[in-house]
Amino acid sequence: MTRVAVIPGDGIGVEVTREAVLALREVAAVSGEPIEFEELPYGAEHFLKTGETLPQAAFERLEECSAILLGALGDPRVPDNRHAADILLGLRFRLDLYVNERPVRLLDERVCPLKGRAPKDIDFVIFRENTEGLYAGVGGFFKKGTPDELAVQQDINTRKGVERIIRHAFEQARARGRKRVLMSDKSNALTYGHDLWQRVFREVASSYPDIEASHMYVDALAMQLVKDPTPFEVIVTCNMFGDILSDLGAQLQGGLGLAASANLNPGRPGLFEPVHGSAPRHAGKNVANPIGAILSAAMLLDSVGRREEARRMEEAVAACVREGQTTRDLGGTLSTTEAGLAIRRRIRGR
Ligand code: NAD
Ligand code: IPM
Ligand code: MN
Repeated sequence: MTRVAVIPGDGIGVEVTREAVLALREVAAVSGEPIEFEELPYGAEHFLKTGETLPQAAFERLEECSAILLGALGDPRVPDNRHAADILLGLRFRLDLYVNERPVRLLDERVCPLKGRAPKDIDFVIFRENTEGLYAGVGGFFKKGTPDELAVQQDINTRKGVERIIRHAFEQARARGRKRVLMSDKSNALTYGHDLWQRVFREVASSYPDIEASHMYVDALAMQLVKDPTPFEVIVTCNMFGDILSDLGAQLQGGLGLAASANLNPGRPGLFEPVHGSAPRHAGKNVANPIGAILSAAMLLDSVGRREEARRMEEAVAACVREGQTTRDLGGTLSTTEAGLAIRRRIRGR
């Protein structure tokens, strides 16, 4: 039995997660293989009411489920984003989900901001390191709030951490029949941490002679992804650059509303979430695009070995995008709930 813990979170996270759960229920009804859901209330509202972000008992329950589906976390009423740091980054770190897989796949020419690009031209995946780098939370203040204050944010790069994400990228390239892995860093300026990335990348690449290994500095890669994204197949990079490049990648496929992600440590329960945030401006208006969340739910099914159902969900989404049955961010006229319903109809095959 697949047991999914659901954390809708904040803002549009709640609205898109509702549609993702309904899509999962639909595909489970079609296949006859049940999915059990447990919804957890953690997010800004709960934090403001109780002071609790993610209690230990809840964390232990999450460790025992098959996978976690998360909406988004972020609320203007929590300006330091403390609850998001504890819940989202906390889960990535404490569950040691070192892979953040963020596919970039164009579903229809019309939603691409670049001219003349067909779906076959944009199809790559970003593997973002997800447990260290600038996100490790190592650092501090000195003389905070005074004219002499100092803030330090350390960039943590461990051999173990760098090696396992790079190896994962090569393994996945091989498993998916892709021919190229590109590592992106800023080793011309970050001469310690990214020197380690350089050395480890060369070492790991040497054991995959069937895969072409290449490198680009991240600034040049950002330019190249806009100029011509077609040659890219697999990109592996650090936590911070992966965050930035994946929003760029999201727009190449039509916008943040479409982009899906999986936080993984292969063999263990993963955390699945759209790439976008809580978009407070759009919250509660039934306008958010549920596709990023629904495609994340498809990645969840993939991770628990339910590949056929995952494909069914992906095909339903692609058909709706091709037919223009979408929310306004993609040029359609549907609300969040109508777009979710259109996708469920396709999942059913009616
Ligand atoms: P955001 O992703 O929430 O929104 C940026 C813009 O992208 C929106 O204004 C909207 O125009 C568009 N957009 C995003 N998702 C969409 C959707 N599903 N449908 C249609 N349009 C969509 O980024 P932000 O405004 O920088 O951040 C808002 C809050 O979310 C912040 O608190 C931030 O920290 C948080 N955040 C959380 C996550 C997460 O939980 N994984 C990710 C990113 C940002
Ligand atoms: C993402 C988000 C998070 C990140 C924020 C909310 C901490 O932007 O998942 O891309 O930076 O990882
Ligand atoms: Mn981000």
